[in-house]
Amino acid sequence: MTKKMTISSIKKTKGVRPLVMITAYDALFAKLLEPSSDMILVGDSLNMSFAGKADTLSATLEQMLYHTNAVCNGAQNSFVVCDMPFGTYVSKEEALKNCIRVFQETSADCVKIEGGADKAEIIAHLTSNGIAVCGHIGLLPQSVRSEGGYKVKGKTEEEHIQLIKDAKAVEGAGAFCMVIEGVKAEVASEVARSVNIPVIGIGAGSGVDGQVLVFSDMLGLFEEFTPKFVKKYLDGAALVKEAIQNYADEVKSREFPQEIHTY
Ligand code: KIV
Repeated sequence: MTKKMTISSIKKTKGVRPLVMITAYDALFAKLLEPSSDMILVGDSLNMSFAGKADTLSATLEQMLYHTNAVCNGAQNSFVVCDMPFGTYVSKEEALKNCIRVFQETSADCVKIEGGADKAEIIAHLTSNGIAVCGHIGLLPQSVRSEGGYKVKGKTEEEHIQLIKDAKAVEGAGAFCMVIEGVKAEVASEVARSVNIPVIGIGAGSGVDGQVLVFSDMLGLFEEFTPKFVKKYLDGAALVKEAIQNYADEVKSREFPQEIHTY
């Protein structure tokens, strides 16, 4: 059994080795990912790949609590991150109330909050009240409607400077690590170098302190679209479809069930 990561052991990986983070939404996959990952993220991306919605915005706190419990049940030896959904951390008070629910109703180890310097006050309120926070800067999926799409960040000098400010503000507010999403690789590396906590990238190149991918993307299960930064480690959709077709064919031909499947 691998040793469960802690906030302290996660921080100590900085400059030593890259962190491995993968999303999971249920106990079944969480158990499969557990042996190879440092941290499991119950991402609000579940609203797309699990619930079939167009973006993450309609994910609810109830949904996140349900799926976080499922993941914690399946991977009891994993460090679990619960993504706070859109609209649940608009003020310090709301954020604390909702994060306390996550800590009381699940065994998640921390929450994840999207936003940089603009969310520093909220993150500081959470961390000073016993909530461990993983930040999330760069491309923020919860801002997809207000920004009119998923826009890669760090392309201009202004964005570059802002990203460094965001990372420093998130660290200063007490976050123990952060995700950086959809950022030009050279800028993301500089952001990682500008702080003392691990910066875990998704679509942010290889110069950061770890990588996170959505499990259904990296297993080739999500067919709607494949972002440029995703590497498919399995052609999951094709394999699943083939298996289901084989089952259907065998049911129709009465090849299944055989003697060994029969009482
Ligand atoms: O919701 C999610 O899966 C995420 C990752 C894209 C980092 O936030």
